Amino acid sequence: MTFPAPALLVPLLLGAPADPELTALRESAREALRGTCGRCHDGARPTARPAALRVFDLRNEDWLAGVTDVQMDHMVDRFEAFHLPERDRRTVGSYLDAERARRAATAAAAASAVAPER
Ligand code: HEC
Repeated sequence: MTFPAPALLVPLLLGAPADPELTALRESAREALRGTCGRCHDGARPTARPAALRVFDLRNEDWLAGVTDVQMDHMVDRFEAFHLPERDRRTVGSYLDAERARRAATAAAAASAVAPER
């Protein structure tokens, strides 16, 4: 008997109703990124770059969904490179922390669903 890999269960778990607090943080972060990063990462703008939109597109409500954990770390590096204002860094940082916690909890739930205690 084989069990599905945790990675296969994660999309199912992501279908759970959104946490309103996380949604609010995600919206604030989207606003904070619009000015500086939106030049290339907002598909509504003429300056948007296709390669940038493949990573994330601020037009999407759930704009961080396709961003991997490693890329989330790279976001922080780019705050520096693109001179994101300090206040906006804190706003986005709060969301990234909350999202990391949510992903960790989702992964733990998936792991226990795959390998139940006996
Ligand atoms: C001048 C255009 C431009 C701006 C402004 C810009 N980006 Fe990007 N970004 C890109 C392009 C193009 C790519 C895809 C190629 C690459 O990885 O560099 C990308 C890729 C990325 C990636 C993926 C890196 C990886 O690990 O694969 C992240 C994360 C990212 N950008 C975050 C940001 C953040 C955060 C800001 C604002 C602080 C920002 N970008 C501003 C053009 C931009």
